[in-house]
Amino acid sequence: METKKLKIDVCFSPYLYPVYKDNESIVVVIDILRATSAICTAFEHGAEKIIPVATLDEAKAYKQKGFLVGAERNGEPVEGFDFGNSPFHYMGEHVKGKTIVLTTTNGTRAIETAKDAYKIVIGSFLNISALCDFLISEKRNILFLCSGWKNKFNLEDAVFAGAVTDEISKRSTYYDMGDACLAMKYLAQMTQKNPNKFLNHSSHKERLAALNLKEDVRYCLTPNQTKAIPIYKDGALIKMVNG
Ligand code: MLT
Repeated sequence: METKKLKIDVCFSPYLYPVYKDNESIVVVIDILRATSAICTAFEHGAEKIIPVATLDEAKAYKQKGFLVGAERNGEPVEGFDFGNSPFHYMGEHVKGKTIVLTTTNGTRAIETAKDAYKIVIGSFLNISALCDFLISEKRNILFLCSGWKNKFNLEDAVFAGAVTDEISKRSTYYDMGDACLAMKYLAQMTQKNPNKFLNHSSHKERLAALNLKEDVRYCLTPNQTKAIPIYKDGALIKMVNG
């Protein structure tokens, strides 16, 4: 009897999501620099819940109700909110046990775009091994959704999708890769020795370097700082149990 293979693919921007979406895949939202890295960091430091919102107006409404709110636009914190989008803002006692509302230029928009997916989880280099273990154990189709930059391709998100694909395909033969995923797997293999160097001239790394955020970039590219896998449930991200 022929075993049906699972599909694994990568969608390079929220704009392309309607072309890739189905009702069966686990969607892995990726915004390496820096939204999904900041989200993973917040859960590692004990945050209870993160409510991702797409617009500043929604974020303001939560702020007025007394919520802690992180807001970033074009790489910079937005005035009037509690945090920006640096992972370093989400480390420490002030996030422990808290519900935090977050809006960012691209990452929270990508989550919003995929909100009707079968399951949404959050990926970053910071939780890469735990994420691979989880995806393999689920035995479902996988779709990586790269947040990109204002609907355009971003190198770091795509390379991360390739790195996860590479790891999964070493450990399981169940998956049929789409061409985009295959290409990113080869790219990740070429760059795995020094992703930071490879990304040197990538657009968002340069944008963050211009804002003196090189430490953020270095941290976001550091694998396995947490086993937390944030999962989207009822409009909010929570830490997956056993994740
Ligand atoms: C985003 O959502 O676009 C980002 O994470 C931008 C950033 O924080 O640099």
